[in-house]
Amino acid sequence: MTARPYVLLSCAMSIDGYIDDATTERLLLSNDADLDRIDAVRAGCDAIMVGAATVRRDDPRLLVRSERRRAERVALGLPPCPVKVTVTASGDLDPTARFFTMGDGAKVVYCPSGVAEKTREQVGAVATVVDAGDPVTPEAVLADLAGRGVGRLMVEGGGTVHCQFLTAGVADELHLVVAPFFVGDGRAPRFVGDGHFPWHSGRRARVVEVRQIGDVVLTRYALSDRCEA
Ligand SMILES: NC(=O)c1ccc[n+]([C@@H]2O[C@H](COP(=O)([O-])OP(=O)(O)OC[C@H]3O[C@@H](n4cnc5c(N)ncnc54)[C@H](OP(=O)(O)O)[C@@H]3O)[C@@H](O)[C@H]2O)c1
Repeated sequence: MTARPYVLLSCAMSIDGYIDDATTERLLLSNDADLDRIDAVRAGCDAIMVGAATVRRDDPRLLVRSERRRAERVALGLPPCPVKVTVTASGDLDPTARFFTMGDGAKVVYCPSGVAEKTREQVGAVATVVDAGDPVTPEAVLADLAGRGVGRLMVEGGGTVHCQFLTAGVADELHLVVAPFFVGDGRAPRFVGDGHFPWHSGRRARVVEVRQIGDVVLTRYALSDRCEA
C-alpha cells in the first residue's frame, strides 16, 4: 500500500478568525513577504488542493510564481508547478476558471459518483475527473493522490475543506497566518466550522514555530508525528 501523502494545511485569517469578508471582493489577508513564503511552500509540494467554492469565488491560479523556484523543480525532474486538485459535490465548475486554464500541469477534480457524469461534461476536457465514491472523504482523495505519486499535499482552503481534513485527523502540519485586523461580520467564512477535532483542551497541538513576517504572524503547528520540525 502507498503511504498517505504528507498533508500541510495553509490558512490566513483575521484576528477574529475570518478567512474572507462578506463582500464580493477578495479580501487580502497576507502581505507580499508572506505570499512569497507561501510560494516557497507550494514549490516544495507535489499537489495543491482547494475546495470548489474557492475556485469559483477567488479564481486562483495556484501556480508557483517564482521563475527560480519553477526552474529548481524542473532541475529535480519535477513539473514546474504542483498538480492542482479540487473537490466538488455539485459539479459546478467553469472550465475557463484560472484553476483550469493557467499552467500546463495536471488538474484533478474529485466528485461523488452521482455527479461524475455532469462533472466530466463540465471540465472533463481540461482536467482528470475522479469518481471518488459517495461521500467523497479526505481519506479517499489522499489514497487516490498517493496512487498518482503525490507524496506531499498542500491544502489551501477554504474552510469547508480545511475542516474536513482536520476533523478526519489526516493533517500533519498547519501553517496559520494571522493578519492584524478584524472582519467583525458573522456572515463571513471562518477558518473552520463546527466539528470534533483531534486537538482540544485535553490534547493540545504542538507549536513548532512562530515567525513575524512584516505585519502578519505565522504559527506552524505539528498535528502528527510525521511533522518534520
Ligand atoms: N484566507 C485563506 O487562507 C483562504 C484560502 C482559501 C479560501 N479562502 C476563502 O474561503 C472561502 C471559501 O470557503 P468555503 O468553506 O466556502 O469553501 P471551500 O472549502 O473552498 O469549498 C467548499 C466546496 O468544496 C466542495 N467540497 C468540499 N468538500 C467536499 C466533499 N467532501 N465532497 C464533495 N465536494 C466537497 C463543495 O463544492 P460544490 O459547492 O461545488 O459542491 C463545497 O461547496 C472563500 O471566501 C475564499 O475566499 C480563504
